Amino acid sequence: MRLTLQIWRQADTAASGGYEDYVVEDATPEMSLLELLDRLNDSLVAAGRDPIAFDSDCREGVCGSCGITVDGRPHGPLPNTPSCRQHVRSFTDGARVRMEPFRSAAYPVVRDLVVDRSALDRLIEAGGHIAVDAGTAADADAEPLPHDDAEYALDFAACIGCGACVAACPNGAAHLYAGAKLLHLGTVTRGKQERSRRARNLAGQMEEEFGPCSSYGECAAVCPESIPLTAVAAVNREVVRARLRGPKN
Ligand code: FES
Repeated sequence: MRLTLQIWRQADTAASGGYEDYVVEDATPEMSLLELLDRLNDSLVAAGRDPIAFDSDCREGVCGSCGITVDGRPHGPLPNTPSCRQHVRSFTDGARVRMEPFRSAAYPVVRDLVVDRSALDRLIEAGGHIAVDAGTAADADAEPLPHDDAEYALDFAACIGCGACVAACPNGAAHLYAGAKLLHLGTVTRGKQERSRRARNLAGQMEEEFGPCSSYGECAAVCPESIPLTAVAAVNREVVRARLRGPKN
């Protein structure tokens, strides 16, 4: 397959950046988009040119490291699929494909397709964790947690932290991401002890770096783990609950 890739090149955060065209003549339908970039980079390096910078690690949809915007859609054309599991077969032979970094005010571009997503880490620091010193890990069946609650918590713990939800949101909101933490950690036994403080801290940190939620729902449409919009609704609910309870959890 022959694909023309229109790729965002930017030397560093301060540079202005712009699109450059590259033609890959020997793409195959079963290649992932990251393998397509690998193929292109091999030819760029062989020609003595700078390869295109992009993030990846596991390449199997687990780690959340990858993240490029393809034809305007975070991760690529397939819904709820990370960039590393998007494939060339989604495009027709001869297609023109635009690749750019995740776009959000919270994600400064580091280089080419790589963005700095540490704003998400600061949310985790602010409240997306359990601070209780729990000692060594107890046996899972020692936790007095009903099975259904454990399953519910796991549904939201599935978030891989890729940050596509923020990039997809016209407001740059992080409600899906933060709501997943609130529902996951607020359901498990030890996490319940900090439920109100977590909601207050996460909401405060979100106001620092992310936009407000207008319930567009774009976030859930791109989330590789299909975190549902109930996570978004949980943010306001948990914040109101925390306000009503005051200093108590
Ligand atoms: S590289 Fe790990 S999820 Fe894509």
